[in-house]
Amino acid sequence: MELHLTEKAVSVETCSFCHKKKPFVFICLVTLLLFLSYHISKQGWLQVEPLYTNQDTIGNGSFLTILVWYWPFGYRYPLEGDVCKDQYHIPGCRLTDQRSLYHQANAVVFHHRELQQRLQVLPLNLLRPPHQKRIWVSLESPENSGDLSHYSNVFNWTMTYRRDADIPIPYGELIRKQAVNSSSDSIEDSITQNKSKLVCWVVSNYNARHRRIQVYKSLIKTIPVEVYGKWNKRPLASANLLPTMSHCYFYLSFENSLSKDYITEKLWHNAYMSGAVPVVLGASLEDYKAVAPPNSFIHIDDFASVEELGSYLRNLSQNQQKYASYQAWRRDYKVKCLWSWVERFCRICLHHHNLSAQTVYQDLQAWVTG
Ligand SMILES: *[C@@H]1O[C@H](CO)[C@@H](O)[C@H](O)[C@H]1NC(C)=O
Ligand SMILES: *[C@@H]1O[C@H](CO)[C@@H](O)[C@H](O)[C@H]1NC(C)=O
Ligand SMILES: *[C@@H]1O[C@H](CO)[C@@H](O)[C@H](O)[C@H]1NC(C)=O
Ligand SMILES: *[C@@H]1O[C@H](CO)[C@@H](O)[C@H](O)[C@H]1NC(C)=O
Ligand SMILES: *[C@@H]1O[C@H](CO)[C@@H](O)[C@H](O)[C@H]1NC(C)=O
Ligand SMILES: *[C@@H]1O[C@H](CO)[C@@H](O)[C@H](O)[C@H]1NC(C)=O
Repeated sequence: MELHLTEKAVSVETCSFCHKKKPFVFICLVTLLLFLSYHISKQGWLQVEPLYTNQDTIGNGSFLTILVWYWPFGYRYPLEGDVCKDQYHIPGCRLTDQRSLYHQANAVVFHHRELQQRLQVLPLNLLRPPHQKRIWVSLESPENSGDLSHYSNVFNWTMTYRRDADIPIPYGELIRKQAVNSSSDSIEDSITQNKSKLVCWVVSNYNARHRRIQVYKSLIKTIPVEVYGKWNKRPLASANLLPTMSHCYFYLSFENSLSKDYITEKLWHNAYMSGAVPVVLGASLEDYKAVAPPNSFIHIDDFASVEELGSYLRNLSQNQQKYASYQAWRRDYKVKCLWSWVERFCRICLHHHNLSAQTVYQDLQAWVTG
């Protein structure tokens, strides 16, 4: 091929049009042909970019490689050693934030917030190894996710608090205890003895249009509510939150978005971890039942009116035995909050093998709002 083109290049000198007015065009043409012949002989017809071959298959032996393209909220976690195994008992999972490992990555993770704020962009210019997954990660409710219509056909998997996400990352979960502690009636008693306030609430974001504000305003006509937080100018340092709430019979775990499976630390941390019984407003009763045992929370949809809810709470606080039944689940479960992005990302490896090999979210917006 090259030889042939070289001959052509020589023959250009003697061809019939060369001494006419277009020698420049011919020099360009010859240069182009030489350039192409070089690449044709080296890499095959017009294949200028590298091709992935079987030798280059992604991953690293039995390790999956999960690449965090940038850190959520810009907060970097250290990844020295085998973090997933050492910290979370998840073996075979190499978590990295080194973009140079892109070509080995089984999955690349993109946190939504930075894309939405245009602080980060997707590397759509990079050739993607076959089988590599792009994962969309978000902990925001649909109403805080902005316009997702331009992310059609971009992501292969979703990773959110929703149970039906490919990689579910709830804000918290209950873990069944290994051995049920039969002598632990005292758990309920010690929690119950600490109580002095009926209903407590921590709120920083006051929006009169939120359903939770309307419910709060009706509720205080029936029973007293201790309100903490920025809105009420009674801020609580995070170290004081659990000890303060441990004195409350009930905690208002009122979400600011009423969306499918959107159950945040207001349940797992503020209520369950403090020992207050959560009164929940947000996702449907079915969503709560799917992740929390019955008699561990009080859903406002179970009441015909807010007055009835208030009356129920007051009665319950006056009936030690019945109130203690709302704490009985603690014998069988312990609460786990998922705070760490490292742990969340390590969980990709737990699900990786079970997930559909070839997928793409053709309409992410529809999935998120659906
Ligand atoms: C594979 O991943 C492990 C764990 O991070 C690392 O120690 C090892 O050097 C990697 N091997 C290759 C060939 O990249
Ligand atoms: C069982 O409960 C008692 C009382 O709450 C506690 O002292 C003990 O450590 C518990 N044992 C286990 C194995 O959890
Ligand atoms: C009782 O209240 C104190 C704070 O006043 C708290 O430190 C402790 O954990 C509470 N006990 C229980 C069982 O909730
Ligand atoms: C609370 O107790 C009062 C008095 O016993 C009773 O009339 C009322 O129906 C109870 N409220 C609820 C919601 O159970
Ligand atoms: C993956 O599938 C296996 C076999 O069906 C199952 O035992 C395992 O629990 C699944 N893992 C997850 C994280 O769903
Ligand atoms: C991932 O999604 C892209 C669309 O962005 C698609 O072209 C690719 O085939 C999908 N890959 C896998 C392994 O599902």
